[in-house]
Amino acid sequence: KRLILIGPPGSGKGTQSPLIKDEYCLCHLATGDMLRAAVAAKTPLGVKAKEAMDKGELVSDDLVVGIIDEAMKKPSCQNGFILDGFPRTVVQAQKLDEMLEKKGTKVDKVLNFAIDDAILEERITGRWIHPSSGRSYHTKFAPPKVPGVDDVTGEPLIQRKDDTAEVLKSRLEAFHRQTEPVIDYYYKKGIVANLHAEKPPKEVMAEVQKALS
Ligand code: AP5
Ligand code: ZN
Ligand code: ZN
Repeated sequence: KRLILIGPPGSGKGTQSPLIKDEYCLCHLATGDMLRAAVAAKTPLGVKAKEAMDKGELVSDDLVVGIIDEAMKKPSCQNGFILDGFPRTVVQAQKLDEMLEKKGTKVDKVLNFAIDDAILEERITGRWIHPSSGRSYHTKFAPPKVPGVDDVTGEPLIQRKDDTAEVLKSRLEAFHRQTEPVIDYYYKKGIVANLHAEKPPKEVMAEVQKALS
């Protein structure tokens, strides 16, 4: 399957991705994770992306389209993929359609993580992540077995630099202004499934399974 996950910051895209990946055996491409890795490694891409990311603004379409184009060449992505956090502008959505058209394929389903903005601050400020795997935890909603430590690798967890109440405001603004039109773009194609993303993770996963069955 070729899937897109769209939703505001903290809506649960990263939480559901590994579950969807395990269930349907797809490649998981999260532009945010890839950009954070580039920033940490101080690559030319990371240097260009850092300023926008720290402010909670979107990185330029050309940069993210470039990394997706490259990442989609991976053998594991040939039979299906989950795009988490991409496309985030209508231009990105159009570019993705062009890329897939060349391969004679198209997006099958867009999972829309619909949720009220008011719930997101608590989710974002309580989040801890394991940078190399992208696994997310939450001090209240999904605590790790040992505080501050990844369950699988035993490595330390960190908080994202953009996970402050302040930067969240810009991220939400970018979502409503630039990314909501992308949901409309896919509505017109008739491939959007709306999820109740405010529900507990297990219930959201059940809705995902229903949408994909
Ligand atoms: P990105 O990394 O994509 O961040 P985001 O879209 O803001 O989304 P988040 O990762 O914050 O939220 P999530 O939905 O994954 O939430 P999670 O599952 O972890 O992008 C970061 C930046 O990179 C952007 O601001 C931009 O600068 C740049 N960028 C990335 N892609 C780009 C693009 N295509 N174009 C341009 N720029 C781009 O959950 C959050 C917390 O809540 C966790 O602690 C989790 O444990 C908890 N939680 C999850 N689900 C539930 C639940 N059901 N109930 C209770 N708690 C839950
Ligand atoms: Zn995420
Ligand atoms: Zn809105």
